[in-house]
Amino acid sequence: MKAVILAGGKGTRQYPVTKVVNKHLLPIYNKPMIYYPLSVAMLLKISEILIVVNPEDKPMFQKLLKDGTQLGMKIEYAVQEKPRGLAEGLILAEDFIGRDTICYMLGDNIFYGHNLVSLLEEAKREVETGGGAYVFGYYVKDPERFGIVELDEKGNPISLEEKPKKPRSNFAVVGLYFYDNQAIEIAKKVKPSSRGELEITSVNQKYLEMGRLKVKLMGRGFAWFDAGTHDSFLEAGEFVATVEKRTGLMIGCIEEIAYRNGWITKEQLLKLADELNNTDYGMYLRELATT
Ligand code: G1P
Repeated sequence: MKAVILAGGKGTRQYPVTKVVNKHLLPIYNKPMIYYPLSVAMLLKISEILIVVNPEDKPMFQKLLKDGTQLGMKIEYAVQEKPRGLAEGLILAEDFIGRDTICYMLGDNIFYGHNLVSLLEEAKREVETGGGAYVFGYYVKDPERFGIVELDEKGNPISLEEKPKKPRSNFAVVGLYFYDNQAIEIAKKVKPSSRGELEITSVNQKYLEMGRLKVKLMGRGFAWFDAGTHDSFLEAGEFVATVEKRTGLMIGCIEEIAYRNGWITKEQLLKLADELNNTDYGMYLRELATT
């Protein structure tokens, strides 16, 4: 499986903060937002990642994450010329994906939870072995802000809607999707929605019609943030700060995961720590290398 992280878009909901700097590069507490989805892919042992970016932002992402070799991975970039919608990333990723399966991630979605990795591993395994699409629902109070899934009493999906005025349920579809290779062809056939975008919900809708969409709920034990507004951005940062201070462990620390995955050596980890000087982050990495 390969991962695609969407980090384009204009971030208009966060103006003026995102007028000059892409939101995925802004800090969620002590690290750039993009580290969080990247770390989730890494926790799933996915080492080949494509980041979809705006043309003007590509050099900044490259400066931050390079080609991934410093983390023992392969990171590539695809340019989305205009924000035509979330499903377009699948089309742009065609060559990168080849015949593989896809972990498709929205760059502003942040996840945290005790059994997160095993929950996602199951989705990954199912799609790798049986195909189809696998997505997650999360209970929200403001369903009109999201893609929504309606479930029957057995938990099977019945309908999907993107930002409905009158939502049929309170389950938002989170921005982390597992697809078989067909998703690329499906995305190519998607028609723009009334707001003129190729919606990811339309891709999921197609899988639903084919009877190949599986939905699992992320329950109470999980925290999910769509850090796309001023408030959710701040809340995500406060959450990360609180958890990190209480546990003494970092969330979304890509260097730590690369090291624990055995993708980089102790020496490489120490080199990455040195690049961060005497920050708390740098010290954390140094400590990791010596314990
Ligand atoms: C997007 C998707 C929506 C999904 C949400 C999750 O909305 O279109 O279906 O529920 O991400 O973060 P956006 O936040 O880009 O408006």
